[in-house]
Amino acid sequence: AGLVRYEAEKATISQGTVATNHTGYSGTGFVDYTNVAGSYVQWSVTAPAAGTATLTFRVANGTTANRPMDIAVNGTVVAAGVAFNPTASWDTWQDVTVTVPVTAGTNTVRATATTANGGPNVDYLSIR
Ligand code: GCU
Repeated sequence: AGLVRYEAEKATISQGTVATNHTGYSGTGFVDYTNVAGSYVQWSVTAPAAGTATLTFRVANGTTANRPMDIAVNGTVVAAGVAFNPTASWDTWQDVTVTVPVTAGTNTVRATATTANGGPNVDYLSIR
């Protein structure tokens, strides 16, 4: 199956805002997580079959500290405390890849910040 991109600014956002104040994003913006634990973006993604999928988060973290997030699929955390490490600047976007279980059809993917710094800036999620 091919790679499908889901823009963060079109997803469900809790405690975050759509922003455009840094360069290099795709689509019409990116999500700036509010600097609190529990802020999240949730996408609905389609998988052709049950099994494992590779999720790629396109992110920027212009600080010097990791901004870990829990990755949940269909309401269950399947990857806890995934590292979203510094990317050198807020204009520098990098991929963080996680392999997760999915069901056939529609799945929810939620990326929740676990520290008071919130998450990195998130441009999109792609799934393969
Ligand atoms: C800066 C930056 C934002 C970022 C924020 C943060 O304000 O411009 O894009 O989201 O820091 O620390 O989360």
